[in-house]
Amino acid sequence: MLTVEPSGGVLGATVPGLDLAEPFSERLLAEVLLALGKHGVLRFPDQHLDLLAQKRFSEQFGEIQGPSNHKIDPNNPYPEIDILSNLKENGRYIGAPDAGQDWHTDMTYREVPGFVNVLYGLRIPHRDGKPLGGTEFANMRLAYEGLPAELRSRLDGMTATHNIEKFWEHMRRVHNSPRPPMTDEQRSRRPPVVHPLFLTHPITGEKILYCNPGFVVRINELPERESDEMLDYLFAHQLQPQFRWTNVWAENDVLIWDHLGTLHRAIADYAPDEIRLIRRCQVRATKVFDPEYLRPVRELTAAAT
Ligand code: SIN
Repeated sequence: MLTVEPSGGVLGATVPGLDLAEPFSERLLAEVLLALGKHGVLRFPDQHLDLLAQKRFSEQFGEIQGPSNHKIDPNNPYPEIDILSNLKENGRYIGAPDAGQDWHTDMTYREVPGFVNVLYGLRIPHRDGKPLGGTEFANMRLAYEGLPAELRSRLDGMTATHNIEKFWEHMRRVHNSPRPPMTDEQRSRRPPVVHPLFLTHPITGEKILYCNPGFVVRINELPERESDEMLDYLFAHQLQPQFRWTNVWAENDVLIWDHLGTLHRAIADYAPDEIRLIRRCQVRATKVFDPEYLRPVRELTAAAT
């Protein structure tokens, strides 16, 4: 039986006592998926994963997005594993120094969006004994439930357009990101995509607000001006303090989160000489909508009721 210690906040739980380098049994994976659906963010402390172990652990949730632009080194045999870090070697960042520093949900700009992120904390900055560089989350089930009933029924069945270029330009403009403007080639590889505005979560069956300020540019069924106003409202609504919770990192934590039911951002509250080093796998929703993948989860749920 999995030990799950809820954070006490609106998201998050710690799962002690597992070695993620060992493959999960079908039952253990089902228990972890259920806990993920319920708590949105799971922290596995005291992990020791090499690249292959992180990749294998991540692939239990779906296909890893790759190859990444941020390779650990040119000889890395697993280019789908990202490095998020402000660490420099020979004057150059070894990974992405600014990834995710504003509210978004990963890969909603893709036809098959993100399901899970798997982050492994190798170096966590500290100041005066306190850890810095937390990851903050917002709960989109609560955000959906917190919408006025009339708005929930008006927007039901509507769809939103997600475009990666919105976040890309925002990072350049607002956060002075060193990334160059997107090229036509990048644009043609990542054209805008459409997803439902409200999604039924495949694990919990609960409705969620599937909208994020990082990538959503339009509610397709509304006239442009009304769509802009509604998006401003939804973005402000979904980030209210009562829906938010921050994970405080410890070295050797593995943190996984459910993208479908959450928004997140990386908190850049550390200085250039306070080093943060995280290894990341971004896992796409290639499995979680498959009923056969979720069969053990359904069986567990049925056995518990
Ligand atoms: C991300 O957006 O995946 C990065 C989150 C973090 O670095 O805390």
